[in-house]
Amino acid sequence: MKILVMNGPNMQLLGRRKAEFYGVKTLPEIEQSLQKTAEELQIEIEFYQSNHEGCLCDKVAESIGHIDGIVINPAAYTHTSVALRDALEAARIPAVEVHLSNINARDEFRKISLTAPVCIGQIAGLGADGYEWALRALVRKLQTEQSGKEQ
Ligand code: DQA
Repeated sequence: MKILVMNGPNMQLLGRRKAEFYGVKTLPEIEQSLQKTAEELQIEIEFYQSNHEGCLCDKVAESIGHIDGIVINPAAYTHTSVALRDALEAARIPAVEVHLSNINARDEFRKISLTAPVCIGQIAGLGADGYEWALRALVRKLQTEQSGKEQ
């Protein structure tokens, strides 16, 4: 099983962004601990970050056929990107949306996620741990579905 962990714009700046919302961990630190979780779960994991909407859409499309699930923090594109939503919808790869901060308790414009409706679930407000819960939940769901198919 192979999972893609995608991050949108400015997530490469984690560690410098407002700690009260995003914590102090850098993206490589988050990815390192997800790599360990992936080893524990005996799955393959790939990481991708881009500041560019089209690159994120390309990555989703390129994942068709060889990625089983996506953990995605679309960052600011969560609230604006019809293109990324359409890409996720068309790819039909089960995806879980993650936000470090609780987007529902912040600015009004952050309360709307264009991408969440095409994801199977969303985790927000649990900091970097949210990525780990998302990965574990996604893998469990995919494994349950796979074993159901085998029966
Ligand atoms: C974010 C929340 C977004 O509103 C914001 O634009 C981000 C990060 C989060 O992880 O809390 O860049 O997705």
